[in-house]
Amino acid sequence: MNLEAAKAKLAEFGQEHVLKYYEELNDNDKKALLTQIDETDMSILAAALNPDKAPSKGVISPLPCMELNEIKANEESFRKTGLKAVKEGKVGAVLLAGGMGTRLGSDNPKGMYNIGITHDIFIFECLINNLMDVVKEADAYLHLFVMTSEKNHDATTGFLKEKNYFGYPEEYIHFFKQEMAAATDYNGKIYLEEKGRMATSPNGNGGWFISLMRAGLLDKAKEWGIEWFNIFAVDNVLQRIADPVFVGATIEKNCCVGSKVVRKSAPDEKVGVMCLEDGKPSIVEYYELTDELMNAKDEKGDPAYNFGVILNYLFDIEELERIVKEELPLHVVEKKIPYLDEKGELVKPEEPNGYKFENLVLDMIHQMRSCLPFEVVREKEFAPIKNKTGVDSVESARKLLEANGVTL
Ligand code: UTP
Repeated sequence: MNLEAAKAKLAEFGQEHVLKYYEELNDNDKKALLTQIDETDMSILAAALNPDKAPSKGVISPLPCMELNEIKANEESFRKTGLKAVKEGKVGAVLLAGGMGTRLGSDNPKGMYNIGITHDIFIFECLINNLMDVVKEADAYLHLFVMTSEKNHDATTGFLKEKNYFGYPEEYIHFFKQEMAAATDYNGKIYLEEKGRMATSPNGNGGWFISLMRAGLLDKAKEWGIEWFNIFAVDNVLQRIADPVFVGATIEKNCCVGSKVVRKSAPDEKVGVMCLEDGKPSIVEYYELTDELMNAKDEKGDPAYNFGVILNYLFDIEELERIVKEELPLHVVEKKIPYLDEKGELVKPEEPNGYKFENLVLDMIHQMRSCLPFEVVREKEFAPIKNKTGVDSVESARKLLEANGVTL
């Protein structure tokens, strides 16, 4: 894109200030900025002017969950079916590690966080250890796909290489980068993070499948015989990955996606809950849950919306390919965004100062034809690390890890 075209594009979206320092830049930086302007989708930024407009929901009704007693009664069969799929190489694991982890407040990728007390043990290491459980049980390695973003790719790949992938064979690990989106102030104006660079933020975890596909890894996965992707968050250090019982249950129930869920600890707990929306599987976020839904009961008299998602899903690849062209809703999220101030100096804000724009994986559930919510025991499988202290923190995760026999 040349300068004239860039000016025209910026004028169309009211972003002319992006060229404020253009004349000060060297030729390479000028070229890089023009390319960035060319590649940035500015049509989404208008959403900043209407940030509270959550995508509207349809008619919500309960989606029955497979609860622990049913899982226990069928465990042998589920395990056999799931293990067979894992042994045959039909399950790939996808680690979503492109987020910025701003709440944890570390400059490094979240997976590099050392949660050890008496010895080093990193978040990535916990996840590899968990993955090794199924490798040992199935006596077969699984392909592990790791999503990073341009902000943390080099640090992530460098760290894992230096640590020799915590013993996992390198040929089974495949990295891919997610896309970025511009980040703006509260008026939808794009921040500059350098004189020749607009501020960007990873575009949410909902873009994982498109990014994996663009990186050429879907074709490879299919060549290797993978039929299911188990996607999981970087920050739940207790989660079971490619859990054979979960895999087997999803296959036996003939569902396009399985979703691990925990029983809510209180009706107003801040987790998204599984439901049907206009008859299709969906997730209602806690802030969308009306009092009526919160107090609704199912036919057994239990709370009808009682199972929260923990970002561990098993997707059928064929179904993912079917929905890949469907658009996901855009979420406008308040964030701390480093920016150049009036004097051209970099500021790292202590408080949120603008918006990033994201697609979320939870919205993909609504595109699926069927979904199995699969209950897991919270104390055994859910130890998210979002903050340093308090709820969902390094502190709380340490306690849970220790309770599960991990020496820290
Ligand atoms: P979070 O919602 O916790 O976001 O991500 P975050 O960016 O990591 O953390 P905060 O909000 O800034 O503190 C849930 C999961 O989705 C991944 C994260 O890495 C984590 O595994 N994620 C999130 C991505 O892979 N890409 C994104 O753009 C956002």
